[in-house]
Amino acid sequence: MRREILAGNWKMYKTPDETRAFFKEFLTTGGLDRESSGLELVVFPPAYNLPAALEMTGKNAIRIGAQNCHFANEGAYTGELSPAALKKMGVHFVLIGHSERREHFFESDELIGKKVRAALDVGLVPMLCVGEKLSARESGDTLNVVNKQLDAALAAVSREEDVVIAYEPVWAIGTGKVATPEQAQEVHAAIRKKLSGRDVTILYGGSVKPENIASLSQMSDIDGFLVGGASLKAGDFSAMAAKF
Ligand code: PGA
Repeated sequence: MRREILAGNWKMYKTPDETRAFFKEFLTTGGLDRESSGLELVVFPPAYNLPAALEMTGKNAIRIGAQNCHFANEGAYTGELSPAALKKMGVHFVLIGHSERREHFFESDELIGKKVRAALDVGLVPMLCVGEKLSARESGDTLNVVNKQLDAALAAVSREEDVVIAYEPVWAIGTGKVATPEQAQEVHAAIRKKLSGRDVTILYGGSVKPENIASLSQMSDIDGFLVGGASLKAGDFSAMAAKF
């Protein structure tokens, strides 16, 4: 189902105590219950902060997601995260295929497809990240790259299954160089066309902050945002929810 989502990807930041402090501030200073406005709020803390995040948000309309999972539900996979266990804990979403996982942990399109399938099989909602590097954008290959990533990740997924897409141009992540609303809209529209038949939610990510979120959110195919750096401060996260 197409819906509005504001998601924060905390990457490898914050301790459990800092996680509790964030939610305490967020929930008491305007973080509010957003159910009535229809905006879905999601936070992806590091795995060791999931219990603290779930404890703090239990009664509120904020969903918690994991930043990664394995494709197996159990086994001899030291250091990995079981999708079935995440689901049992109360985790709702899982980020799959973030560019930092593709780049630093060598995740292939094939592996990402297996993880998407595994997440859906246990009832987690995959938030699938796709996006081109600067070299691909400069050579006019943006849509080829994104299409290839989508084809591989969704090969074993039916049209009815719930997958959220996050378009994150790699050159815009953590660089302060946000895509223009028109650049983002162009790719979002192409993704929506490619996935026509699916009622898919498509988020933009890459240097989103309180100062630029309003202009991006006016684009017709941008349903929401996956925010890294600017999601770490409760005040900024509230400000972005308010300007959405
Ligand atoms: P950024 O990160 O907002 O810090 O650019 C976005 C992301 O990695 O999801």
